[in-house]
Amino acid sequence: MLLTTAIDYTNGSPHIGHAYEKVLADVMARYQRLRGNPVYFLTGVDQHGQKVEQTAAKEGVSPEAYVEKVTARFTALWEKIGVHYDGWAATTDPRHKACVQKILTDLKDQGQLYKKAYNGFYSVRQEQFLTDRDRDAEGNFGPEWGEVVEIQEENWYFKLSDHTAWLADFLEKNDVILPQFRKAELMNALSRNSGIDLCISRPKERLRWGIEFPFDPDYVTYVWFDALINYVSFVGYGGLDASLPDFDATWNDVVHVIGKDIMVPAHGIYWYCMLHAMGFRDEQMPTLLVHGWWNIRGEKMSKTLGNVVNPDQLADTFGVDALRYYLCRDIYTGKDSDFDVERLVMLFNTELANNLGNLCNRALNMSQRFTEGILHCHLPLEEEDLGVQHSLVESLNLYRESMDQYDIARALEAINRHVVNCNVYAERMKPWEMNKNPENKARVATVLYHLAESVALCAVMLSPVLPDAAVKLAAQIDLPGLLDKKLDELVWGLLPNGHAIEKPQPVFPRIVPVAPDA
Ligand code: ME8
Ligand code: MG
Repeated sequence: MLLTTAIDYTNGSPHIGHAYEKVLADVMARYQRLRGNPVYFLTGVDQHGQKVEQTAAKEGVSPEAYVEKVTARFTALWEKIGVHYDGWAATTDPRHKACVQKILTDLKDQGQLYKKAYNGFYSVRQEQFLTDRDRDAEGNFGPEWGEVVEIQEENWYFKLSDHTAWLADFLEKNDVILPQFRKAELMNALSRNSGIDLCISRPKERLRWGIEFPFDPDYVTYVWFDALINYVSFVGYGGLDASLPDFDATWNDVVHVIGKDIMVPAHGIYWYCMLHAMGFRDEQMPTLLVHGWWNIRGEKMSKTLGNVVNPDQLADTFGVDALRYYLCRDIYTGKDSDFDVERLVMLFNTELANNLGNLCNRALNMSQRFTEGILHCHLPLEEEDLGVQHSLVESLNLYRESMDQYDIARALEAINRHVVNCNVYAERMKPWEMNKNPENKARVATVLYHLAESVALCAVMLSPVLPDAAVKLAAQIDLPGLLDKKLDELVWGLLPNGHAIEKPQPVFPRIVPVAPDA
């Protein structure tokens, strides 16, 4: 599988939306590995375009220096929060530039590009020409377009209109848009878009910070045309660079993780049509996993509103586990959610510190005190023991089903349900009471075995979301190779009779909320 994210604009600092998307893709990549499927995870940064050029000018530095500085904030954040990618796509990379130029040349040779003069309205903020369709009910270009100017210029166009009929048919027949409810939105946009070609150049008088046209040096490439190509350029398309992966081996089962704002028109229309023009077959077309947005108290996050959430600070304040857990736990993939720090703290404290932390702590602690740290499951089992095993099977099934559908929140609910069931079982069995009577030794050991085995299995299930915490939990269970187990190997009874476990170490220290004005 090739799993990619959008490449983030380097015109500021990474925000919570960027962090969410990268964590989502990182979790899915780790989950595929847990399934035993090979995966190549590509992410990166989108460094060209007018916004970058303008911000750099404002700061009085070159665009090169500016993007270098900003890119470092992104790579440092991914390092900090455990986003482990295999390939890094930075659009100023010369290998990418060579690939974009090759694709432009090929498309031109195939008659897919033409040059023409155009007189029209142009949105400086969105870096695109506007049409009458972009006017609001009063016939004006709304505030979302920012400053709109009328200009006349010659540009290069890509014959998008040659491919839209194919695309409509392809989308009709294939389920490549996830979640499914987004497909209607794309089909609608496509019917509005047919017959329009895509302007893919910008004259250098207007924009210098882009990839030069190989056959017309007065022009640079439109930022979206440049950016979309990252998905193929960094996995070796065209075999241009030996340092990149083998394209045919890597371009398999492709999933692009993107936010809902960039499905139409960029990915859902331009990119599919570009790939089709480049000769990609239907079965090579990527799937789009379209996620929703994190809002702040129901409002869109924006620099102007000053409500942008800084993931770097959150990781420092609450820890990486709490941040990753929240980003996976409090949003259903595809839907929007409200970012709420109180819920971040509450979910960590309830589900990790209390539920799982407590289960791990009591299982290991009592094993040390009552069975010298040696696990043993004695037969015959009682109904309650079988109940725990049944709960685990149900959780595993729901976990797998949810993760296969990119539904991480439900997968975490499934883990948590089992943890809660285990704690209820512990309360009912009361091994601390049972242990007072030496005749109960075997039963005490069996109950503790069920708790410890559950911790082991939950650690593996949790590992895609919280890799560091999973390592800490596994170290206490101390079973060699536990975290190398594949999902199919997760069956009851991983821990052999006679296995010695470690002493408990706190993995999820409770977050003590600090009053804002303290
Ligand atoms: O769009 N919640 O870059 P970008 C969730 N460079 N996701 C969010 C979000 C939020 N509040 N805000 C942004 C670009 N995103 C282009 C992509 S791909 C070839 C080029 C998501 O930095 C957004 O939907 O504006 C997108 O998927 C990603 O963050 C990067 O946004
Ligand atoms: Mg954006």
